[in-house]
Amino acid sequence: MLYREMGETGEKVSILGFGCMRLPTDGRYEHIDRKRASALLDFALDSGVNYLDTAYTYHGRDNSAGGDSEVFLGEYFARNGRREEIYLSTKLPVWLVHNREDMDKLLDSQLKRLQTDYIDFYLLHSVKERNWSLLEDLGVLDFLDNAVSDGKIKYTGFSTHDETELFKDVSDSYNWDMCLIQYNYLDENIQAGHEGLEFAAERNMGVAVMEPLKGGVLARYTPPEVNEIWDKAPVQRTPAEWAFRYLWNHPEITTVLSGMNTMQHLVENIFTAIGGEPYSLSSYEMELMDEVKEAYQEKVEVECSACDYCMPCPNGVNIPQCFSYLNQAAMLNDPTHIHTQYNFMLKDEEKADNCLGCGVCEELCTQKLPIREKMKRVKEEFS
Ligand SMILES: NC(=O)c1ccc[n+]([C@@H]2O[C@H](COP(=O)([O-])OP(=O)(O)OC[C@H]3O[C@@H](n4cnc5c(N)ncnc54)[C@H](OP(=O)(O)O)[C@@H]3O)[C@@H](O)[C@H]2O)c1
Repeated sequence: MLYREMGETGEKVSILGFGCMRLPTDGRYEHIDRKRASALLDFALDSGVNYLDTAYTYHGRDNSAGGDSEVFLGEYFARNGRREEIYLSTKLPVWLVHNREDMDKLLDSQLKRLQTDYIDFYLLHSVKERNWSLLEDLGVLDFLDNAVSDGKIKYTGFSTHDETELFKDVSDSYNWDMCLIQYNYLDENIQAGHEGLEFAAERNMGVAVMEPLKGGVLARYTPPEVNEIWDKAPVQRTPAEWAFRYLWNHPEITTVLSGMNTMQHLVENIFTAIGGEPYSLSSYEMELMDEVKEAYQEKVEVECSACDYCMPCPNGVNIPQCFSYLNQAAMLNDPTHIHTQYNFMLKDEEKADNCLGCGVCEELCTQKLPIREKMKRVKEEFS
């Protein structure tokens, strides 16, 4: 296993991290299959994986209560005593925080659930434009300072799926040790994106990556035109290998989290990590990656440049975001994952269903797009 230093912490983290959001279950998401999940973790730890990512709500019934992921990890480490071998990362569910007391209560309950005295990397979970200033007002940064000085957490971070500007604002608001962003070869221009990645690196923040395979779809449903491009490569790799190797090629990325729920995927990803040095792909291989990105881009449905001139919509629809989700769904053979994100990430008033067809946006659009017509496609796709 290869290791990289997490920002300025001096901690050497495995380049493959274990994402504990998709552990094997007994068929119900909130019931982790202890035997299978423990076997995966045993193998991962024995192979040198030393970074585990979980969250209060992973494997929960819904986003309002604690899930089984932290509880399972607590039991796992209590049983085998291997807690000290790993860096444990979990997250404060910021949407359940209404006052400063809630933060302390949640952290204390997470320590109990995880059966540990400290958390290595404690992240604010899914910071968004709509919750960030409230969290600051409630004293979340002071809470983090205190949790570090009390020894309950060692290092601080945040995760976000919001836009680059928010990512930069949050990054500059505190002396974070790390951040967690969605990143893969198709998502370099959405959310924090490549700009955010470089911004974090300039500030010496460690960067953990989530959704390296876009929730699995980059490996599961590769279009034939993409496979044809990869067939030209001198070294043949699976789609998952290409996606991971592309990420590790970036020196700014510290660790790539993978939600592995089968031994086959775990073993494959551990083997792939052996070659995961920065700049290890040849210039020809990088050219092929560019061709692959273009092949996906050709499937785009709306040529929206997200300039935001159409915003704000008088009725609250988030026009650029609706088009971004439509394009992402069009690029993939199976858009289920994008449907979930559309429903989860957008407020109801921001969705296409809320478009009244007034046309104010079309007068402002720099690309002269038929926004009202395309909004009907968004509705059709996601309703
Ligand atoms: N903070 C946040 O808001 C947030 C959000 C998302 C994720 N995360 C964290 O980031 C972690 C990683 O994200 P993710 O789980 O979405 O990662 P991902 O790697 O993009 O997707 C995981 C899925 O990829 C498939 N997969 C993994 N290895 C494979 C391989 N070698 N070949 C083919 N398919 C493979 C599996 O799909 P199948 O099971 O279908 O085969 C697996 O369930 C999560 O587990 C979680 O810890 C955090």
